[in-house]
Amino acid sequence: MLEGKRILLVITGSIAAYKSLELIRLLTKAGASVEAALTPGGAQFATPLSVETLTGKKAHTELWDDDAFEMNHIELSRRADLIAVVPATADFIAKMTRGEGDDLASTLLLAKNKPVLLAPSMNVEMWENPAFQRNLAQAEADGATVVPPQSDELACGEVGMGKMAEPADILDAIAQHFAHANTLDGKHAIVTSGGTVERIDSVRYISNFSSGKQGNAIALALARSGAQVTLVHSVNSETAPAHPNLRPIKVESADEMLRATRDALPADIFVACAAVCDFKVANRSDRKIKKNEGLALEFEENPDIVQSIGTLPEPERPAVVVGFAAETENLVENAQAKRTTKGCDLIVANSVRDGAVFGQAENTATFVTANETRPLDTMSKAQLGREIATWIHAYLQD
Ligand code: C5P
Repeated sequence: MLEGKRILLVITGSIAAYKSLELIRLLTKAGASVEAALTPGGAQFATPLSVETLTGKKAHTELWDDDAFEMNHIELSRRADLIAVVPATADFIAKMTRGEGDDLASTLLLAKNKPVLLAPSMNVEMWENPAFQRNLAQAEADGATVVPPQSDELACGEVGMGKMAEPADILDAIAQHFAHANTLDGKHAIVTSGGTVERIDSVRYISNFSSGKQGNAIALALARSGAQVTLVHSVNSETAPAHPNLRPIKVESADEMLRATRDALPADIFVACAAVCDFKVANRSDRKIKKNEGLALEFEENPDIVQSIGTLPEPERPAVVVGFAAETENLVENAQAKRTTKGCDLIVANSVRDGAVFGQAENTATFVTANETRPLDTMSKAQLGREIATWIHAYLQD
């Protein structure tokens, strides 16, 4: 599954470094070639000799050694496809985010030209420390993929988050990376997300329970696949994921969302994940309405954003348009009807009976296209985001 892939493994100073040896074995078995660099701390926990035996290559530890003319800190990432920092200590992640380079491992990350995957490993207090969380968020914003640690009894005897992910899970994350990396290079995607906010007066509004989680996950999956992503999301949705390929634009109402989407065109991909309010308040007030004035709201229909983009004439219409259908009954029939009237190539249909989906971490969806109805297993919103990115890639290939 990883034939021909070249992994540069960076081993930093945590007890979990012994698991890096197992990871090398798994990667090699999967067909990858592995070359490793160790920090001085990493070399205390995993000996360069063990690493060399398993990789069949020199284990690099020194910035300037016998091979100094080769400039390891530059060359190592040039001849790799992915840099995996396993384990990644709090200190190493801090150094990375500050752009420091005082040994081979930190300098090669500074001079890197390849994607980075981090498998953090540390004590629970270190994991929860706000300074560390800031650094981790910064590392993600700089484009790193994080394989989260587990909550368990830690090597120090304390219990909590910080135990490094198992080698098999890290292998999976690496395989996921290669399944998606670069598949959408050069494409521009627009994703709408979250519930729109329709003002009643200067302090009150109407909205819905959409969290924006699914839209965030789709935007991140597309960005990690190489697309440049414009995420048009509502002011009350969860914080946008940070990724160098992702540009978030905050909007309030459906009208603003439509305008921002149109302004972001041209695009190759449009994913309408937003829970757009069907109606806006026609007689909204620019000041706060007093209680004793009473409230008699009049509504008018909002524009249908996905329909207005999905039915654009070529070449303005994005090559692939994806819509959602949240239904309580007749899921597939309604989704199929929506697909044609709204000009979508794919409708991701999900049942919202009994409040399912909104704000949840998981989603159960059915892909409805012109040719097929494909129910998917229940999966995390992150995983569904990846499934949608994969579907889009396949559709654009045809
Ligand atoms: O008609 P319904 O709201 O169920 O359609 C859902 C799909 O249409 C979603 O993809 C949603 O983002 C999109 N939509 C839209 N503009 C609207 C209403 C829905 O883009 N005004």
